[in-house]
Amino acid sequence: MKGRRVLITGAAAGIGKAMALRFAEAGADLLLLDIEEAELAQTAGEIGKLSSQVTTRVVDLAHKQQIDAFWNHLEADLPDTLINNAGSYPLRTYLEVDVRFLEQTLRINLESAIWMCQNFIARRKEHGGVIVNVASVEALAPLRDDLIPYSVSKAGILALTRALAHAYGKRGFRVNVLVPGAIKTPGTERLRKSAMRRLDVDLMKTGYHFANRLALGRGGQPDEVARVALFLASDLASYVQGVAIPVDGGFLSS
Ligand SMILES: NC(=O)c1ccc[n+]([C@@H]2O[C@H](COP(=O)([O-])OP(=O)(O)OC[C@H]3O[C@@H](n4cnc5c(N)ncnc54)[C@H](O)[C@@H]3O)[C@@H](O)[C@H]2O)c1
Repeated sequence: MKGRRVLITGAAAGIGKAMALRFAEAGADLLLLDIEEAELAQTAGEIGKLSSQVTTRVVDLAHKQQIDAFWNHLEADLPDTLINNAGSYPLRTYLEVDVRFLEQTLRINLESAIWMCQNFIARRKEHGGVIVNVASVEALAPLRDDLIPYSVSKAGILALTRALAHAYGKRGFRVNVLVPGAIKTPGTERLRKSAMRRLDVDLMKTGYHFANRLALGRGGQPDEVARVALFLASDLASYVQGVAIPVDGGFLSS
């Protein structure tokens, strides 16, 4: 990845942080975005000398104005690769979902990727580029009634990926999507702990059913997703276009 410039969103924690470390090790220059300033600085610190150049920016990707402002004020070279990883999985029973909750969930998980891709493609239109989006197994095999807006947002990410792959492939853009499941990250750890704390039996039961469907019999590590992202972003995947690759320990196959 030497000579490549990779933008990763949600790079302060979990899968995004693992991606930052992997891409740095592979020699890419990095542009890392997150809403959490201190953790983002920590990721950059851990990368240290692995990468020749690491730039961090605090952006709340749930707001289009902040996304546009980021791109409009980008002083550094344009990235050639965009990884839309930032996301969150807020829980709420379907019958209690209101407009505000739905909008917030869609803004961070779906609209952020739409606006990031639009800015990226508009600016790179002469040169092409690589996009890796991040969906979820919840888009294809939803297990819970309190993650429905999230499942919908991630199904949108699958559609966005295929639509962009089709529309912009001939113009030099490769666009693919990862479909992770059961990855141990600060985000999923928060869910697990809150289920235990609230003695939420339904949530614990879902966790049990989820675990039973893992053909590999274990949860995954963030770096196991990062390695597939690295492959998809690299020229090793030069003829891979518009695909959704599960990284889920066999969840979707069971
Ligand atoms: N962990 C899993 O099992 C799993 C499964 C399927 C899909 N995913 C997806 O993978 C991606 C990463 O998940 P994770 O488990 O590493 O999550 P995480 O919560 O551990 O990390 C997410 C990162 O995104 C950042 N972020 C959240 N909202 C933001 C905003 N508005 N603006 C900027 N940054 C923001 C957070 O600060 C954090 O650093 C998400 O899109 C998630 O939906 C994860």
